[in-house]
Amino acid sequence: MVRSRIKIVKDVLLNFTRSRWTSSIYNVDEKFAKRKTIISSQTISDTEHQRRYAEAIRKMKRMGMDSFQNWFNKSKDTNQSIVRGYWDFTFHILTSKVCEYIKNPEEKTALEIGYGGGRILNAACSYFKEVIGIDIHEEQETVEAFLRSQGKTNFRLIKISGRTMGVDSRSIDFIYSFIVLQHLSLFDILVSYIKETYRCLKPGGIAKLYFARYSNLNLLDQFRYFIQGYKEIPEASINYKSLVVRASKLKKLCKKVGFRVIEVVGSYKRVPDGYPRIKGGAGWYNFIKRTLEKILDEFPYLTVDKYEQW
Ligand SMILES: C[S@@+](CC[C@H](N)C(=O)[O-])C[C@H]1O[C@@H](n2cnc3c(N)ncnc32)[C@H](O)[C@@H]1O
Repeated sequence: MVRSRIKIVKDVLLNFTRSRWTSSIYNVDEKFAKRKTIISSQTISDTEHQRRYAEAIRKMKRMGMDSFQNWFNKSKDTNQSIVRGYWDFTFHILTSKVCEYIKNPEEKTALEIGYGGGRILNAACSYFKEVIGIDIHEEQETVEAFLRSQGKTNFRLIKISGRTMGVDSRSIDFIYSFIVLQHLSLFDILVSYIKETYRCLKPGGIAKLYFARYSNLNLLDQFRYFIQGYKEIPEASINYKSLVVRASKLKKLCKKVGFRVIEVVGSYKRVPDGYPRIKGGAGWYNFIKRTLEKILDEFPYLTVDKYEQW
């Protein structure tokens, strides 16, 4: 009885979603075909996404260091960026769950996806042997000068095209990202980043990534995109949310790629001032790359050779 009701609700949702994007259900081919064209022409390519961010960030750089830093995290000046970089890194990223899985950090390498102006990377440099920052903007020199002005030298900044990480496989102990993956233009790019995170982490390595919550959508859209599990928002302005994903979709994806999800928690805005009153619109996902031994235990047919190509 309960199962058949669940099935009916699922079918209704599926048909509703399909009817928005395909023409088959209500026989209004032309109308929906047209709609589809408009939607797909709005999809932003990787190059266009990278160009728009690079251009906006270059403009800010021309306006001076305070404006540059403000663009990434709405800080009032560079000093606030530095202070909040430490707070965000220690409060949001180095949580007790992460501590459980990281030993001897002075010997470890961390990687930040979307390091922006470098405020969090600056903090991370004090906690790890080396930190690698990847981003699509072109202001590496400005950020390098900023980090050096803070006495940091144990970092490497890499300009990437926006989907891959540009570092060796199994070379990183800890990967994190803050207020970045919500700005991706396509779900497909998120899938690529999860796979890249898996590729670049050492077995047993840990990742902590921040995603915009599905509840950011209005109720109608939550209903509409429920089965798909995510919504791309191509019309979003730069530095606004352009991708939201359902928690269960993400968890499934991470597990499929080879991670064990160890924690999912909500975010807070403007820590410490607003904590714990002001909840954020995102969730933190912690996952760990299963070790080779565990994977081989679980999939006895898999040989080490096959695992290498996996
Ligand atoms: C809001 S800023 C956050 C910067 C930094 N994480 C912080 O908290 O200060 C978002 C950053 O994500 C970067 N970004 C946008 N799309 C990206 C992509 N596909 N891959 C890597 N970085 C991206 C932007 O260039 C920008 O530096």
